[in-house]
Amino acid sequence: MADNFSLNDALSGSGNPNPQGWPGQCGNQPAGAGGYPGASYPGAYPGQAPPGAYPGPTAPAYPGPPAPGAHPGQRSGPGAYPPPRQPSAPGAQPAAGAFGIRAGPLTVPYDLPLPGGVMPRMLITILGTTKPNANRFALDLKRGNDVAFHFNPRFREDNKRVIVCNTKLDNIWGKEERQATFPCKSGKPFKIQVLVESDHFKVVVNDAHLLQYNHWMKNLQEISKLGISGDLDLTSASHVMI
Ligand code: GAL
Repeated sequence: MADNFSLNDALSGSGNPNPQGWPGQCGNQPAGAGGYPGASYPGAYPGQAPPGAYPGPTAPAYPGPPAPGAHPGQRSGPGAYPPPRQPSAPGAQPAAGAFGIRAGPLTVPYDLPLPGGVMPRMLITILGTTKPNANRFALDLKRGNDVAFHFNPRFREDNKRVIVCNTKLDNIWGKEERQATFPCKSGKPFKIQVLVESDHFKVVVNDAHLLQYNHWMKNLQEISKLGISGDLDLTSASHVMI
């Protein structure tokens, strides 16, 4: 991380577009955060929150998966999370810095274990390079077969680029949250960071805030795996508490 730039700056959506010189057209796009899925949703697509909408309060009302009530989540307040602790040490793979890192190149699809689940202040960092003719890739924070957070850049859906976020419970996808701001370029290296906050996941790409996604699945401690799949070469995947 560049000395003159803190992650918090990116995570709070401040204006440094690309302090590390990450390639691509990854400017500091305004978040679609305010557009999810409260006041300005629907109708806010493609993904634009009004200027200044971020940072703002998390949209309180979840529109719900297709069958509201079908997926009861046990709301566990902050006190219910395990206390902050160091994530597990790496397994057989070599470590290179942060706890939990898997240094690459790594075989895709790849599962990064998250023992004990996720919790606020956990930061997950994925370094990779999209394939030259990438169609799509996905990050999936999983609880067993359920997907708490599906982050899915699609490079040419109807000749458009879009990031699709969703949650899958009992094999049923919920309502997609789509973000037209698309900082990933095929064939280019990227850094994606997912910061777990108390109400949402915050996604930062190449040091610029991209979006946030509410915790539709509340039992964070059961989200014990990050799946990384699709058209990318994976350099490293790691998690650390900040
Ligand atoms: C489906 C797709 C899944 C997932 C989902 C998200 O159409 O097959 O892989 O991306 O959309 O809503």
